[in-house]
Amino acid sequence: MSFEWAPGEQPPILEPHSEAKLRVLRAYLHAYCDTLNLRFQRDEFRLDLVDGFCGGGTYREIDGSIVSGSPLIMLEEMQAADQRLNQNRRKALSVDYQCYFVDKERPHIEHLRDVLSERGYGSEDDRILVREGRFEAECGAIIESILRRQPRAGRAIFLLDQTGYSQVDLDLIRGIFRQLPAAEVILTYAADALINFLAGRPEVLVRLEGLGLDRAQALDLIEHKQRGQHALIQRTLKDLILSATGATYYTPFFIRPVVSRRALWFVHLSKHPTARDVMLQLHWELSNTFEHYGNGGLGMLGWDAMKDLDALDLFNFTAEDEEAVRLDLMESLPRELDAAVSKEPVPVGAVYRQVANQTAATRSQLDKVILQLFREREYDIRDKNNRRRTRRILRLQPTDHILLPDNLTLPFRAK
Ligand SMILES: C[S@@+](CC[C@H](N)C(=O)[O-])C[C@H]1O[C@@H](n2cnc3c(N)ncnc32)[C@H](O)[C@@H]1O
Repeated sequence: MSFEWAPGEQPPILEPHSEAKLRVLRAYLHAYCDTLNLRFQRDEFRLDLVDGFCGGGTYREIDGSIVSGSPLIMLEEMQAADQRLNQNRRKALSVDYQCYFVDKERPHIEHLRDVLSERGYGSEDDRILVREGRFEAECGAIIESILRRQPRAGRAIFLLDQTGYSQVDLDLIRGIFRQLPAAEVILTYAADALINFLAGRPEVLVRLEGLGLDRAQALDLIEHKQRGQHALIQRTLKDLILSATGATYYTPFFIRPVVSRRALWFVHLSKHPTARDVMLQLHWELSNTFEHYGNGGLGMLGWDAMKDLDALDLFNFTAEDEEAVRLDLMESLPRELDAAVSKEPVPVGAVYRQVANQTAATRSQLDKVILQLFREREYDIRDKNNRRRTRRILRLQPTDHILLPDNLTLPFRAK
């Protein structure tokens, strides 16, 4: 895979991995702007977009046509959002965005500058800051700038699209979440490249420790590799990324185009369940591009489900996967819920938060399962004023509460 740009030269060919990644980035920015604005009548929408590993701005298709890379996609989507969100509004919405584009390679930055000026983005446009440098060196100043522009909301999306697996310091992401809790981070991670590299040599162990693993974890990974347990390695890395970055929610799915066996990990990290849900909805919409080992029900992303499973089915957001998730949740959700609801009614919003990281189901898919269990009288549901809801309801509110039905106590529910 080549990511080389130079001024005056043709950009690199767009590989299927990058095509899939950019498609999701575009769709996510679109959905993000709509989610935050369609239901809220604000006058101003501020968003800061950080492309920390931005590259040269364009790619070339096999037929020679030129397509946008991530920095252009950010700009195009903000302009499109401005137009779209201002349609049919009496009072204009001011879409106030700021983009930060960073790359350590001078020729890449020069190529990007040329591309921006060809497309009419003037060098005096102060909504676009282009920096030649390492992201780790620029990150602190970028966070400060975001905090100055948005002292309260701190709304920002960081795309950290590294070429391999070791260029993004996970501690840096922890710092982003600490200072900007509303930020979201999209991190690419060449997990397969790391797996290929795993071996018991001392220099490999040192490098793994640099990624945040202690020696025992590093040796575990190497042992998994020797046994061919790739799914288990990915699971360990996922846990590492989550704990090292301090994110609360994540969607750890892989892009594996048909023509290539190399999987690229595309991880969305956030501290907000809605952000995760929006990303997950896109995975379902763009089915067959993203995948994961195992089924999509509860425990899908947990360690235990993987312990002794070497050969797992691939899950890739097809219609069959959706039905399998539904069937799995009809069994596994009551097991998860019963302990909690036997003590006290549990708000639906708390159920979303509790299971979010364990399943590929979106909120609306979870709602369907809860409503089916409700219609089958496994549970009662009350609204926030403790009024009984009828079994014919089609939608749940996060403030609804789930409780055991009046005539049931737990011992008789064992399945
Ligand atoms: C995968 S490419 C980015 C592609 C771009 N996001 C896109 O989709 O159009 C990775 C880029 O990161 C740059 N890079 C590598 N290490 C870096 C670092 N520590 N800080 C900033 N840029 C870095 C490389 O020069 C390369 O241009």
